[in-house]
Amino acid sequence: MSKIITITFSPCIDKSTSVPVLIPEKKLKCTAPKLEPGGGGINVARAIKKLGGTATAIYAAGGYTGKFFNKLVADEGVPAVIIESENETRENIIVLEESTNQQYRFGMPGTELKEKEWNRFLVAIEEIKDVEFIVASGSLPPGVPADIFARMGAIAKKRSIKFIADTSGDALKYAAHEGAYLLKPNLGELGSLVGKTYLEPGEACPAAKEIIGKGDCEVVVVSMGANGAMLITRDRVMKFLPPEVKRKSTVGAGDSMVAGIVLELSRGKSLEESVQYGVACGTAATINEGTELCRLQDVEKLYTAITAENIDSVKENA
Ligand SMILES: Nc1ncnc2c1ncn2[C@@H]1O[C@H](COP(=O)(O)OP(=O)(O)OP(=O)(O)O)[C@@H](O)[C@H]1O
Ligand SMILES: [Mg+2]
Repeated sequence: MSKIITITFSPCIDKSTSVPVLIPEKKLKCTAPKLEPGGGGINVARAIKKLGGTATAIYAAGGYTGKFFNKLVADEGVPAVIIESENETRENIIVLEESTNQQYRFGMPGTELKEKEWNRFLVAIEEIKDVEFIVASGSLPPGVPADIFARMGAIAKKRSIKFIADTSGDALKYAAHEGAYLLKPNLGELGSLVGKTYLEPGEACPAAKEIIGKGDCEVVVVSMGANGAMLITRDRVMKFLPPEVKRKSTVGAGDSMVAGIVLELSRGKSLEESVQYGVACGTAATINEGTELCRLQDVEKLYTAITAENIDSVKENA
C-alpha cells in the first residue's frame, strides 16, 4: 500500500470536447471526446503520479460506467481499492467554445451510495497498513452522511495517520471539527466555515486561526487563486505568491495543489517547503489547457520563482 491514500465518494468520467460556437437549438459538431477519470481524490492521486510519487485511490464505482471508469484509472497506472456500488458512476461534460476560448462545465449529480457501501470506506481505512496520509477530496453523493469526513478523521487520528480534507459545505464543517490534520479551503470555503458569505484575502488569517482555535485541526492552507496561498498554524503565518503566468485553464488547480503538499510531506519535507511546492503545482496546472493537471517540469521551474513571506501573526490578528 502507498504511504498516501486518497478518498473519492463521488468520482466521475470527465468527457471533454469542443465546438466552434455554442448555440442553442442546432446540432453542434463536437470534436472527438477525451475521456478521463475525475473527482477530487482521483485527481489528487493522478497528479501525485505525474509528480513521480504513488498514491492509492479508494473510490466507489458502479454499473457499466463504473467498469469503464476503473479501466481509465488502471490505464493511468494509479493503484486503486474499488468499492463497488449498485448505482452507476456519473459522467460530467466539459465543452470548450473555440471562438471565445470559454469552458462550460456540466456536472451531473453524484449517484446515491448505500450505507453498506459507504461503510466499506470506513472499514478500508481501519484496515489499511503502512499509510501515513489520507486525503479526502471532493463532494459527497446522496446517501453519504455529512459527518463522514469527521468519522474518517477520528479513525485516522486513532491510527496516527494524518488526515487532509479538501471539500466544501457541511462536509468541510465536520472535517474541521474532528481530527483533520490539514484543511485546504479556498477563500469562499473558508468564509462559509466561519459563517461569512465573502472573505477578503486580509481576513483569511483570523478566520483560519478561529478554525484552528475551535477544533482540533492543526494546519489551514488557504488557496487564493492567482494570489497563491497562505499557510496558517497555531504559531505561524506564511504567504506564498506564485509568479504571474499565462493562465489557460484553472481546472484541477486545487487538486494539483493538494497533491503537491501531501507528496512533499510524505517525502519528509517541512510544512513550508510542502506548501510552496503545492502552490507551484496549482499554478503549473493553470498553464495547461482543459482538464490537464500539473506537469513536473513546470512545477520545478515555478517552485523557485515563488515568493515565500513570513507574516507576523500577532500584527495580522490586531
Ligand atoms: N490564475 C492563477 N494564476 C496562478 N496560479 C493560480 C491561478 N489559479 C489558481 N492558481 C494556483 O492554484 C492554487 C489553487 O487554486 P484555487 O485557489 O483556485 O483553488 P480552488 O478554488 O480549490 O480550485 P478548484 O476549483 O480546482 O477546487 C492556488 O493557490 C495557486 O497556486
Ligand atoms: Mg477546491
